[in-house]
Amino acid sequence: MIVKTIKLLGISGSLRADSTNTLILKTMRNLLPAHAELEIFEGLDEMPHFSPGIPETEGVTRFKQAILDADGVIICTPEYAFGVPGTLKNGLDWTVATGEFNDKPVSAISASPLNSGGDKALASLLLTLTALGTRRNEASALSIPNIKMKIGSEQQIADEPTLHALKQQCDNLLALIL
Ligand SMILES: Cc1cc2nc3c(=O)[nH]c(=O)nc-3n(C[C@H](O)[C@H](O)[C@H](O)COP(=O)(O)O)c2cc1C
Repeated sequence: MIVKTIKLLGISGSLRADSTNTLILKTMRNLLPAHAELEIFEGLDEMPHFSPGIPETEGVTRFKQAILDADGVIICTPEYAFGVPGTLKNGLDWTVATGEFNDKPVSAISASPLNSGGDKALASLLLTLTALGTRRNEASALSIPNIKMKIGSEQQIADEPTLHALKQQCDNLLALIL
């Protein structure tokens, strides 16, 4: 029997080279079954500030195509000043009129060094994802508090409950796709 490979796209809300949110996406890549693969998008900061009517750049086209090509998307983001990082919101805004996220299965995750887990950014992100028409269920969101305490000496997620919760996000997203 031929099993089709499921293509997932990871979008990190952080541009930092040693981002904890990007580390979470890399960790999730290893939690997927053999028939699924996760590509992490690079170039979120290569899109101009969205404004209706301005021409789409190559960077915007590449972002939209990556979403269209994916069977599902995982967004993992930090919280800045109680909100979603502007770079991530800008990328999402570019898709509002053209609908790349419409009916797209999405898992939304926030991670923070604080005890709040970036819950306000997550709530805001979920509102935007609703506006974009994404396919989600009650289990499609996860907030991870105290993330820095959950990273081991080899820069890996070393906390079992967090790994379990990330695996659940993977499984739930795959179930939404199938
Ligand atoms: C300007 C600034 C504002 C921040 N605001 C918040 C915030 O409102 N809530 C929060 O949980 N963390 C806040 N943080 C801390 C970020 O969550 C932290 O830098 C996080 O590690 C960034 O994610 P990353 O490791 O993926 O880059 C802020 C950090 C900066 C630099």
